[in-house]
Amino acid sequence: MQEESASQSISLEEQNVVFKPNEGPQTKFLASSEREVLYGGAAGGGKSYAMLADPLRYMGHSQFSGLLLRHTTEELRELIWKSQEIYPQIYPGIKWSERKMQWVAPNGLMVLPPKENEG
Ligand SMILES: Nc1ncnc2c1ncn2[C@@H]1O[C@H](COP(=O)(O)OP(=O)(O)OP(=O)(O)O)[C@@H](O)[C@H]1O
Ligand SMILES: [Mg+2]
Repeated sequence: MQEESASQSISLEEQNVVFKPNEGPQTKFLASSEREVLYGGAAGGGKSYAMLADPLRYMGHSQFSGLLLRHTTEELRELIWKSQEIYPQIYPGIKWSERKMQWVAPNGLMVLPPKENEG
């Protein structure tokens, strides 16, 4: 038995896990099937990363489009960097357009518009 669980953990390590939700509210948020979900909590609790991961559930659907809004472009930039790290690993062929501030997946679409007239 011990041998079996050891080999299982090796194979898990070998899998390229690009994003693994934190235990607790982030997992609950991402697992929810409701149309509207409120997710609050402590700073650094994983809310913003959850907003990045959430559209990954739907980006393979041709009718999907998502919109992610932040107060400042600076806040958005951090999420864009993170999305550039993880999205192409999950959806090979997905394309980021800096001009349009949007991700276009083979099927879905995800828009991250900067706040207009900022500054
Ligand atoms: N699933 C995850 N896997 C790995 N790291 C994570 C994960 N979720 C969050 N983090 C890490 O925790 C940090 C804080 O997460 P995040 O920015 O999403 O928190 P937040 O709830 O939006 O915080 P704030 O209220 O300050 O905006 C991230 O910068 C990231 O390093
Ligand atoms: Mg945040």
